[in-house]
Amino acid sequence: MNVLLTGGAGFIGSHTAVALLEAGHQLTILDNFSNSSFAVLTRLRELTGKSLKGVEGDIRNLSLVEDLLRSQKIDAVIHLAGLKAVGESVSDPLRYYDNNVSGTTTLLLGMQRAGVKKIVFSSSATVYRGSQEGLFNEDSPLEPVNPYGRSKLMIELILRDYVATNSFEALVLRYFNPVGAHSSGRIGESPLGVPNNLMPFVAQVAVGRRKELAVFGQDWPTPDGTGIRDYIHVMDLARGHVAALERLEQGGRFDVFNLGTGQGHSVLEVIQAFEKASGKPLPYHFAARRPGDQAVCCARVEKARQVLGFETQAGLEEMAADAWRFQMLNPQGIV
Ligand code: NAD
Ligand code: UD1
Repeated sequence: MNVLLTGGAGFIGSHTAVALLEAGHQLTILDNFSNSSFAVLTRLRELTGKSLKGVEGDIRNLSLVEDLLRSQKIDAVIHLAGLKAVGESVSDPLRYYDNNVSGTTTLLLGMQRAGVKKIVFSSSATVYRGSQEGLFNEDSPLEPVNPYGRSKLMIELILRDYVATNSFEALVLRYFNPVGAHSSGRIGESPLGVPNNLMPFVAQVAVGRRKELAVFGQDWPTPDGTGIRDYIHVMDLARGHVAALERLEQGGRFDVFNLGTGQGHSVLEVIQAFEKASGKPLPYHFAARRPGDQAVCCARVEKARQVLGFETQAGLEEMAADAWRFQMLNPQGIV
């Protein structure tokens, strides 16, 4: 297929680009590089030995989007462009609703005008209402607790409404915790500023860029007292997008899938895996719980397995080893 990948220079987008090119799809990337580097595009070409079109621009630019969809004869859009920092979304909610929600409606308008009728959208496990068990299937109650999460849920609802009255197909993918990097170490997670998430923070401590990790809470109702998450290798996640695209090729209407491994790991287990990968002790201390956190957040993965035929391959050790390789080879990120 001819695919437009929005946000394709970012962490998940760049890995998804590799999986799409390897699966034989033609690729156009649209990114405004607000949270990524132009250098990623060169690395993608080197890594895959394939050509791809890269366009610097914003999904909120309707004429640009429409022209691109037409000129590249796009069959389907994989929509990953978005802002994702939870704390920032609380302090600046309008920026999040403008970029994520208005950005998506503009993209959909462009698709409508250009007659493009298929989209895969990157949502998040953050849309689920936290529960004691912390195990979510696609029908679990939804109640995001911050503007970032609400922007994701709003987009899901917009897509559902649009599909209901139009010949349009949308698949929503709810990612759990994407981590790791491509095994080449050429692309990976390269956050600007202080990382919000565990794995990139741990990687920067291991490489000496940050002094010590703060473990948020040691009194959670979990076996070792630290939070449990469903970490998924970003290359597995990337292949999930290829599976979703293939499903759309057969005609999918509207559907939602969790993408996770179905298996949880605690913060201390992540630290241990990283110590093993890097061969160094990782300094950490316990700190207060982070507001808005929950004890456990893991995916039920049966639906993705049955309908998409999607199964993950990598375990925590491989995730840590690949994240560490990327961090070592790119101590300042992709510049
Ligand atoms: P990222 O920041 O690395 O990538 C997002 C990309 O989108 C960046 O390259 C950025 O420059 C681009 N972008 C942002 N706004 C844009 C706009 N208006 N127009 C064009 N480009 C724009 O983030 P990521 O981790 O790769 O996440 C990709 C998507 O997956 C996001 O929508 C995010 O909300 C979602 N998601 C991420 C996670 C995670 O843990 N990383 C979890 C669940 C969902
Ligand atoms: C984060 C986002 C969530 C997003 C999800 C997917 C926040 C508040 N939530 O959640 O919206 O959908 O990523 O990627 O950012 N931890 C530490 N020390 C740190 C960082 C994290 O102990 O410096 C702990 C957390 O308390 C948690 C675990 O590590 O138990 C994972 O944290 P993180 O990587 O931020 O992911 P989520 O909490 O799942």
